Amino acid sequence: DITIYITDREGKTHDIEIPLEIDLNLMEVCKASELDVDGTCGGMALCASCHMYVESDHELPEASEDEEIMLDQVLFVEDNSRLGCQIKVTEEINGLRVKLANLGS
Ligand code: FES
Repeated sequence: DITIYITDREGKTHDIEIPLEIDLNLMEVCKASELDVDGTCGGMALCASCHMYVESDHELPEASEDEEIMLDQVLFVEDNSRLGCQIKVTEEINGLRVKLANLGS
């Protein structure tokens, strides 16, 4: 298992243990942990409900063109913005810190 730290929209940080045996992405992890992430598009990089900021210095795989296009359209985008559904849970993200973005609604 790995542990990651997710700060919710109220500013509370949750330590979350994730098994590596199942294919998961960070949107699915948030949903499974009952954090306030809708995942409306089912992880297709089309809704940005999983917009989050990467706050640790982990080297993540680059965003795809689809992800970049979606991020261009969201509010409160920052240099460290990513779509959680596009970040796969792997050993490499052990210790990752992310913060859910303000959705501005
Ligand atoms: Fe829709 Fe990530 S779940 S963009």
